[in-house]
Amino acid sequence: MTPAGTASSGIRADLLSDTVTRPGVAMREAMATALVGDDVFGEDPTIRELEERVAALLGHEAGLFTPSGSMANQLGVRLHVRPGEELVGDSLAHVLRAELGAAAILSGISSRTWVSERGRFRAEDAASLMITGVGPYQVCTALVIVENTHNFGGGTVQSIEEIRRARELTRERGVAMHLDGARLWNAHVATGVPLADYGREFDTVSVCLSKGLGAPVGSVLVGSADAMAEARVWRKRFGGGMRQAGILAAAGLWALEHHIDRLALDHGRARRAAEAMAEAVPGCVEPATVETNIVIVDVAAAGWAAPEFVAAALQRGVRSYAVDPRAVRLVWHLDVDDEATDHAIDVLCTLLSEHGPSLPPS
Ligand SMILES: Cc1ncc(COP(=O)(O)O)c(C=O)c1O
Repeated sequence: MTPAGTASSGIRADLLSDTVTRPGVAMREAMATALVGDDVFGEDPTIRELEERVAALLGHEAGLFTPSGSMANQLGVRLHVRPGEELVGDSLAHVLRAELGAAAILSGISSRTWVSERGRFRAEDAASLMITGVGPYQVCTALVIVENTHNFGGGTVQSIEEIRRARELTRERGVAMHLDGARLWNAHVATGVPLADYGREFDTVSVCLSKGLGAPVGSVLVGSADAMAEARVWRKRFGGGMRQAGILAAAGLWALEHHIDRLALDHGRARRAAEAMAEAVPGCVEPATVETNIVIVDVAAAGWAAPEFVAAALQRGVRSYAVDPRAVRLVWHLDVDDEATDHAIDVLCTLLSEHGPSLPPS
């Protein structure tokens, strides 16, 4: 079904990303009737309500609404790391791989990375990279970034115990921790760990309303009241001061109310598809590694190059994303129901079972 106010595309299962969702009628009504004001003057009541609600959910004092997850992350980075210092994170982290060098360009910050397995966070990886108290001779580490769930890792959920261990190690050394929680909602639904239990272990947390929760725009950064006051200044400098954006915040509030628990449906559908593909071509995906709404398929294991597989699936109404030459990412969300999942399974299993153009071993 085509959601209200959107064009039909001929795509029957859009698994490109969970950012492609279109707001439904009820969300649009909430947006149309939102109370608004000029948020640069702090006068938008709907934005204030959203910021307070998200801060409380994550166990922090205050929140700040931002136009994107990238801006929320970059504000978190800017608060903790001075120009010339560094942040550390895993090599697949969105902050390091997909924010286009923003930390270096906007904040004069360098970074170093560790290599992870499917984005899985281990405190010892962070600890092994941290350098502190080295005066004028080496770059000092000021921040560890954790991503939960991990996008390019395939929706990997981070262990709360591992995060707590890292918190102890970083606290001893005066290093801050920022959580890129664009999909923290998915981790919470998959594990039952309260959002605030994750949130409290970090100095700042960014969460997205525009991924699995289905709002059209918006993220929230949370932290201490002082940190958010400083972030508000940097948001304006970064060009993110918005006026009557309560219209957007209303969509976020609606999503928080209605779209968190249903993420379990996305997780179930992703797992069902992974199981079908694993049965069609053993070795292309390990269903046990599908923890949330993202499936990474090693299409090279079935003789395909990822871009060709993506093109062949698109011709049959299934949109996907080539994460590298061998692998394709599939993401379940609000606009992919059981019927669309059945269609996707049919197309993907048929393609995987045919032999595609073969790729040399990596
Ligand atoms: C893990 C993660 N963090 C941050 C972002 C950035 O969000 P935005 O696209 O709103 O800038 C994304 C976007 O996909 C993401 O997957």
